[in-house]
Parts: sequence; C-alpha cells; structure tokens
Amino acid sequence: MIVVSKHIDQRPLDAEPEFNRFIDAAVSRRRFLQGAGAASTVAFFAANPVAKAVAGSMSKSELIGFDAIPTSTADTVKVPAGYKADVLVSWGDPIFTNAPAFSQQNNADAQAQQFGDNNDGMTFFPLANDRALLAVNNEYINDEYLFTHGGENISADDARKSQAAHGVSLVELKKVDGRWTINPQGRLNRRITAYTEMAMTGPAAGHSLLKTAADPSGKLILGTFNNCANGETPWGTYLTCEENFNGYFASEKTVTLGKTYQRYGISDTDWGYDWYKHDERFDVAKHPNEPHRFGWVVEIDPMDPNSTPKKRSALGRFKHENAALTVNDDGHVVVYMGDDERGEHLYKFVSEGKYDPSKGSANRDLLENGTLYVAKFTGSDDELKGQGEWLELTFGKNGLTPENGFPDQASVLIFAREAATQVGATTMDRPEWVAVHADNKHVFCTLTNNKYRGVKDSQPLNAANPRTKNPYGHIIRWAPTQGDHTQPTFEWDIFVMAGHPEKQSGLMAGTDNINKDNMFNSPDGIGFDRAGRLWIQTDGDYSNEGDFAGMGNNQMLCADTQTGEIRRFLTGPTSCEITGLTFTPDSRTMFVGVQHPGAHFPAGGDAIPRSSVIMITKEDGGVIGT
Ligand code: FEO
Ligand code: CA
Ligand code: CA
Repeated sequence: MIVVSKHIDQRPLDAEPEFNRFIDAAVSRRRFLQGAGAASTVAFFAANPVAKAVAGSMSKSELIGFDAIPTSTADTVKVPAGYKADVLVSWGDPIFTNAPAFSQQNNADAQAQQFGDNNDGMTFFPLANDRALLAVNNEYINDEYLFTHGGENISADDARKSQAAHGVSLVELKKVDGRWTINPQGRLNRRITAYTEMAMTGPAAGHSLLKTAADPSGKLILGTFNNCANGETPWGTYLTCEENFNGYFASEKTVTLGKTYQRYGISDTDWGYDWYKHDERFDVAKHPNEPHRFGWVVEIDPMDPNSTPKKRSALGRFKHENAALTVNDDGHVVVYMGDDERGEHLYKFVSEGKYDPSKGSANRDLLENGTLYVAKFTGSDDELKGQGEWLELTFGKNGLTPENGFPDQASVLIFAREAATQVGATTMDRPEWVAVHADNKHVFCTLTNNKYRGVKDSQPLNAANPRTKNPYGHIIRWAPTQGDHTQPTFEWDIFVMAGHPEKQSGLMAGTDNINKDNMFNSPDGIGFDRAGRLWIQTDGDYSNEGDFAGMGNNQMLCADTQTGEIRRFLTGPTSCEITGLTFTPDSRTMFVGVQHPGAHFPAGGDAIPRSSVIMITKEDGGVIGT
C-alpha cells in the first residue's frame, strides 16, 4: 500500500559475450564491496553457503526464458514479446448475479456485491480443469475515486460503502474458449468486509484486552480491513493479513493514548477514512479495546461461503504483510511474517501440532496454537551476510514477565511489537513479503526501504540493514540450520540490494546483479512459482527522476535465485504499484495485481482508474517465465 492523497501521504546481459560479462561482474562486485568497506570479494562469496549462489550471478539463467523489457512510463501494462496481459476483474465489477454494474455512484449495498477496491495478495484455488475460485484481498480505498464527492463529509452510507470495499473478494472463475473469466453465478462467491462476523481463536481469545461493549466475550469480532498480502495452507484455506489497521481509529475527542497504542500508531486521528463518525466502534476514546481486535492473520475457508473466518492470535498482532507458510520436514507448520513498518521486525510461527495429510480436516486448526519467534540478525557491517537467531516470544521467557509489563501470553501476542523489543529483536527496513523456496528451504524477505535507517537513534545501521535511509530497498535471504525451519538459528545474506549503478557508488549502486537494464526500487510482493523462479513486485518511487531516474513505473521482475540474475517481466500503468500474484496449477496463467493506478487504467479515455487483477498468458500457451 502506498499512502496517497489526503490520507497522509550495465549492461544488457543478453548483448554481452560470456567472457566480458564475467569480467564486468568481477569489477562491479568490487565496486560494490569497496563501497561497503569489505576487504575481499573472495571471502564474501566463498565463506557462506547461502551467498555462494550469488557468486555466479552473471551466468545466464536457464530458468528464465523471456527477453527482458525496458522500463515504461505509459498508462498500461507491458509484458515481454510472446506474452499477453488481459484484465480479469476490476474494482466494482459485479460478482453476484443481481449485483449492479460498476458506477462511481454505487452505494454501500452495491459495493457489497461487487469486487472490492485496491486488490492485493491473492490465491488461485482450482476446482476443476475449467473452474476455480480466486481469493483476493482488498486492502483499502481511494476516496477520491470511491465517491463522486471525493470523500469530503462522508455520509453513513459512504462509510458503509468504504467498509464494503475493504476485506476479501472470493470469486469463481470459469474457462470460456480457453480463457479464464469471472463467474457471477458461482456458488462460492463471497464478499468479506469490514463488518463480516469473525471468531478470535488461540491464546488471546476471550482476553480482557479484547472485550468490548458489543462483544463481552472477547471472541466475536466484526470484520477485517487493510488486508494486505496473503498466504495459503495445505488444508485448503486462505490467509489474509491485516496491515495498517491503526489508520481506521480516531475520536471526536482529543485523547492521549498510552504507549501500547503509540507503538502501533493508534491515536485520535485516523488516515481520513472517517468511519468513526458513523460507526462508533472506531471511536478509540469510546471503545479503546477495539483496535486490539485488528492486526491479525485471518484464516478463511474459501470452500464454505457460510463459514466464519478465524483470527489466529497465536501468530501475533502487528502490521502483517503476508503469511508465508511451509510444512517442515517433521510436519510442523511454519509461518514466516513481516511487520511492515520502519524499524519493526520479522517473525516466525511454529505450530504445536503437526500436519498429517491423511488426517484431512483434523489439520484445520494447526494455526490455533504454537510458538511465535522474532528474528535477530548478527554479522559484521561490511559483509552483507551473517548469522541469525529466532528469539522466543513466550510468556515467562526472555524477560516476557509481569515485571516487564507482560502478565500472560495473550498480552505478549497482543503487544507483539513490544515483546519483540523486550527480547532484543533486530529492527528491519520495513519487512514486507516473505517467500520460501520449496526445495532448498531458503527463505527470502523484501525490505522495501526505510528513510529512518541510520537517521533515528532507535534505528542505527546494522549488518542486515546496512544502508543509510535505504532508498532502494533490498531482499534478504536465510537458510535455516540443517534445512529445518524449526531450528533456532540460520545463516543469512543479502540476495539483492536494489540501487542505481549509473548514478550512485558503493552500497547505493546496488549488488552486482543490478544493472542499468534491470534497475528497480522498493521490492515488496515476492513469490516463487513451481519451477523456483522468484517473482519480485515493486511499490516504489515511480517519479523516474533524480535518484530514481531510469526506473519508470512500478514493475515486476523475475529472479533466478541460483545464478542471481534478475530480469524485468512487466511494467505497470501510471502511479500504480504491482502487488499480488498467483498461478494456475499448470503455471500457464499468472494473475498479477495492479493496485491504485492513478490515471485512467484500465478503461482509458477519461475513465477513473480502477485497481484490477491482470491475467498473463503466453501466446503459445506455454509456462509463464519460460
Ligand atoms: Fe500493504 Fe506493506 O504493504
Ligand atoms: Ca505491500
Ligand atoms: Ca509497500
């Protein structure tokens, strides 16, 4: 999510002979490492088994088959030769039979039957060869487009419309003439909004901090919002992650809230949504526990449109980006999660129970109980690699005691950020998505940027976040000890540091797998396809000027994590970010999200822009990325 409007605010690899590329690679690596103050290039790449892979970064990838595309500033989606990109569904499209067609004049009831706004993370659930269900997050709204009046003095129906544009859209797809289309007749179609009934589960369920006047049980919560990215489970459920939930709470009164609120950015002023004016549970002075009921991972059964979504308190409360779930070799379910805020942390959940494919629905509550950890990275400042440790966030351990303000496990989870600080977690440069390579067990996390790094006393430079202000962002990678995701230790390196090799030097130029033809900034969405290609989506500065000259609109790139090569695959329309990706099981259709386009995408002309899910196929019907 980018904060918009009043709310806040080398060489062409393919063109070079192999030998020259090798020489250039050595030079650029030296350039980079000298900037970082490292003594020896050999030591950096040879000493660390994780880092070794990058040493061969200039060898041409056998995984990636398409020709890289240039940057773009056009108000359209561009993909490589031999590929096509079509719009599947846009904000406001009817997803039920009797739903009205899109119009900016649509009211709340209409919006509740239409595709939500600002689509983000998503998962494709196959139902048959020619039928599927697409679950898509709808993160937030742009009131300048949601309302004909631009969002000034919103009415009760406007507030309800805004709430209905948030949440999750579940929509069936069917193949017509070989092409996926949405099916408004689909039995599984469902809208989940900011007022859908949900259950709180796990150690915090029923805790006094979650009880409100409307819900004395502390277990029945209305809605989910700011649903950023996602996850999926092997038992067929969808995970949606609540990110900037603080931006929805406010008060008519001027109130000073304590540090547990301040740590999450909750105050008497919201980000302009104005829900509190018409729905008093968002008035934090009247209902101070309501904000504790958001900032969670929510599990949804997409196959039962009447099911009650479950908030999973064991996974902690913070500004969740995505939930990268993997089943460890021993059956424990492990979920890696970023907390997207400057100087916040990276988390890992390990389930108490084990996944057993033969047990079917008995696996369904594996996310209800387990152990939460937070990452500590160590290493020398100039090597871009080191060791890491997972620090346990369990009541009674590591100083998480009543004397330090943690009377029980529920308070550890509800105030996970403060618990992370208590145990000594490393402050990170806005951890966004995490992705796990299924075969080699390497885990990747985007650290999108951080203007406070090295600027605020609370966020000094550290080995894993080594760049002052980090304007371009980086992707960190770690290998769990012995390939076991439940181990308390790991080794890490930086897979790529985005940068500008033409305008900058040293660390700011980026790692040697960045060149003038694949420059980008602010990596955000990432995900592996079935062949192990890493797809990288950006939510960055699209000014195409100054430090970002030559980077164009936000984009999506494809990386070979063995060779380190990165190629640009897609460029988005004006002012958008690219976020959200999922594939059909045959990998021949890829769905990609265009969020908050700012000009006239996709209709063109004078149309207002509408966030959309794009469907990418190959003209020869082949696998995406080949
Ligand atoms: Fe919703 Fe951190 O992006
Ligand atoms: Ca994001
Ligand atoms: Ca972002």
